[in-house]
Amino acid sequence: MSGVIDLFETGMADLHRALAALRRERPVVEVALPGGGTAWLVTRYEDAQRALGDPRLGKRSSAGGFSYQRMLPEDVARAVSRHLLALDPPDHTRLRRLVSGAFTARRMAALRPRIEGLAEELLDGMSGADRVDLIESYALPLPIQVLCDLLGVPSEDQADFRSWTNAIVAGGVDPAGLPPALVAIVGYIRELLAAKRRRPADDLLSALITVRDQEDRLSDDELISMVYLLLIAGHETTVNLIGNGALLLLAEPERWARVVATPELVPGAVEELLRYEGPVQSATFRTALEPVELGGQKIPEGARVLISLLSANRDGERFPDPDRLDLDRPVTPNLAFGHGIHYCLGAPLARLEGDIAFRALARRFPDLRLAVPVEEVAWRPSLLLRGLSALPVALR
Ligand code: HEM
Repeated sequence: MSGVIDLFETGMADLHRALAALRRERPVVEVALPGGGTAWLVTRYEDAQRALGDPRLGKRSSAGGFSYQRMLPEDVARAVSRHLLALDPPDHTRLRRLVSGAFTARRMAALRPRIEGLAEELLDGMSGADRVDLIESYALPLPIQVLCDLLGVPSEDQADFRSWTNAIVAGGVDPAGLPPALVAIVGYIRELLAAKRRRPADDLLSALITVRDQEDRLSDDELISMVYLLLIAGHETTVNLIGNGALLLLAEPERWARVVATPELVPGAVEELLRYEGPVQSATFRTALEPVELGGQKIPEGARVLISLLSANRDGERFPDPDRLDLDRPVTPNLAFGHGIHYCLGAPLARLEGDIAFRALARRFPDLRLAVPVEEVAWRPSLLLRGLSALPVALR
């Protein structure tokens, strides 16, 4: 395996420096994976965009390949593996069409007052303290409550629901907690589906059921998989948008003061924050369904491919002065939400949440500041995500 590099050895804090060197010298390179095996890492913008749009880099052999799935009862394993990010066309096309119909702009926009209310409640909860962990108190609970609302999870069930989703999202570092949480959540979603069938409401889950019942298209497994995917994709990512974004806005007090004084800056700031330190480090694994040439490298059939969105979004060929966080940067589309057929279905909701979260934070806590030096804020080790373990802040 000579020439295979270990990206994790370089340390998470120096990740951008390591990625910049790869973009310059070895833009498509085989890297060692923490759990064993290798993948081809793609770091330049143009190659990344091409790879995300290439049907020869598919999902087929990566679906169902996680070791924890072998520890699950068969019906549960099946129920969490029929989702959009595990499928290639034509299965993906069919599911995406069905689900998009329920993910309407109207439903997302209608969530604004509710998300604003949730943000205010969380900020109320913080207001008695001098110092808090902004991840624990704000960035983490907001997206999960929004998801519960979107799906129509009754408030009395939200505490259980959150303990399972916490175990599921921690599954990357603590796989032992994953099977019981998956069994519990799949059982719960089944019951919830039954309840929504009996009594439909104006929520996403009821809408997804209607799609199925009228056209007999979404199976129960597909419905459960969809909910499962929404939980992971809509939770772990948005928390990082709020967490990474708050870190960067607070890192320079003048920057925070500008946001406080000029909240109209926030939508543009969200785009720049997504580019500069996006929540998703790499897109989910692809597999070469046939030999593929990319960036001058031959990727053999069956090899895994990891497309670094974080790196692509710092590519100087695409973004002038890429390592400068510039809230006034004219918006040039970036890859934070992916590209091609798997482009993020929740992007409008994520932008809405980011907009509301930063505006509310700036309004309520104009004197907010980091409680530790920037260099001491720790990144969570992860191959796919880019987020903080904690963000200690002083409120006044
Ligand atoms: C800032 C927050 C978010 C970011 C940065 C983000 C990023 C992404 C990315 C990069 C992908 C493509 C992954 C790949 O190609 O392997 C994706 C897919 C997806 N995201 Fe998001 N996401 C965010 C929030 C959300 C939210 C809030 C939801 C839903 C509530 C959501 C639902 C989905 C779904 C369902 C897919 C799969 C689409 C498909 O395969 O067709 N995401 N997201």
